[in-house]
Amino acid sequence: MLESTSPLPYLIIKGKRISLPIIQGGMGVGVSLSPLARAVAQEGGIGIISSAALDRLLSKRNNRKMSVYEAAYEEISLAKASGGYAGINIMCALVKDYEDSVKGALDAGADFIISGAGLPLGLPAIQPPKDTALIPIVSSARALELICKKWERLGYRPDAVVLEGPLAGGHLGFKMEQIEIESNKLENLLPSVKDMAMKYGDFPVVVAGGIYTHDDIVRFLTMGADGVQMGTRFLATEESSASPEYKQAVLNTKKEDIVIAHNPGSPCGLPFRVIKQAPMYESSLKRLRSPKCDKGYVLLKDEKGQFTRCPAKESNENYFCICNGLLSSAGYNHDEEEPLFTVGSNAFRVDKIVSVKKLMDELAGRVILQTA
Ligand SMILES: Cc1cc2nc3c(=O)[nH]c(=O)nc-3n(C[C@H](O)[C@H](O)[C@H](O)COP(=O)(O)O)c2cc1C
Repeated sequence: MLESTSPLPYLIIKGKRISLPIIQGGMGVGVSLSPLARAVAQEGGIGIISSAALDRLLSKRNNRKMSVYEAAYEEISLAKASGGYAGINIMCALVKDYEDSVKGALDAGADFIISGAGLPLGLPAIQPPKDTALIPIVSSARALELICKKWERLGYRPDAVVLEGPLAGGHLGFKMEQIEIESNKLENLLPSVKDMAMKYGDFPVVVAGGIYTHDDIVRFLTMGADGVQMGTRFLATEESSASPEYKQAVLNTKKEDIVIAHNPGSPCGLPFRVIKQAPMYESSLKRLRSPKCDKGYVLLKDEKGQFTRCPAKESNENYFCICNGLLSSAGYNHDEEEPLFTVGSNAFRVDKIVSVKKLMDELAGRVILQTA
């Protein structure tokens, strides 16, 4: 008989014993959906779907109009269908749909809600989370303290925290000028965030951003992290729902192709890591495009309290249309819109697209044992 063992320790969050301390990070739009999350959960890690534009993606898949609530509910149910632990990433920047995504995920019994791209100060107050673990993403001990203080007043404390450093994919929780600072390296941020987690109840700290190999995982666990969250490695899997063109762009990318977009940049106002050859980014640099801005996921309220304001709508010069660009890179409106490709800083190291099983075996350092 063949059995496999991993030298990595398990991770416990809110009483859930996760065999491998690896969270597959939420990747929106439409990169981490139930096929990816389910596969990771089956391999003993934590699979995370992304809530971004999920209503549109699932309405298309099911050929019927689905609400934000229904989409979160359905995708969590599918992600958990084959066993293991699965949850959802809900970005604070998606203000309009935030609460409905949370409610759909909670009602479907999500194991985790992971929330960043802003401070999820009101998350525990939306609905009693029951068995669902609530996990903020932060980039500093200060941000974690703000969240802990606010959540304390709501009678809750984080079940774990994800500390995301400046090498991650997607939006970054740093100002442009802070990204290269030595003290903001993930390993240098970890001790103060660990101390803060200890102060507010000794909950697990999961690190993210630039973690690529089994040895990287061991290194961070040795430094005191309880687990890791990884994005780019999972983007380059067979089960990720990125378009074939997106996966090919990751395979082609060189170190110098990975840049941080900020002007033109994301309408969310945070630096955003991209492959510079991504068509939407290239034409934004040339100030060539007029964004459609018809999807509205990052809308903010106007003075009358209506969700009408998006910087990309107001200033085509300085911002790209992130909703349409990322939907296109998930194959949604591919014929009408140019794609935008976000990756972590290590994407240039990816040289093949592999199955989740193969990736998890590698990351876990699994040794196959022959037993009687
Ligand atoms: C394609 C892609 C999309 C991402 N989308 C999101 C997202 O929607 N919300 C979020 O909180 N983080 C997002 N991230 C960040 C990841 O969840 C993860 O924390 C980060 O990528 C870790 O760094 P790594 O890519 O170096 O492993 C994204 C990352 C990538 C590569």
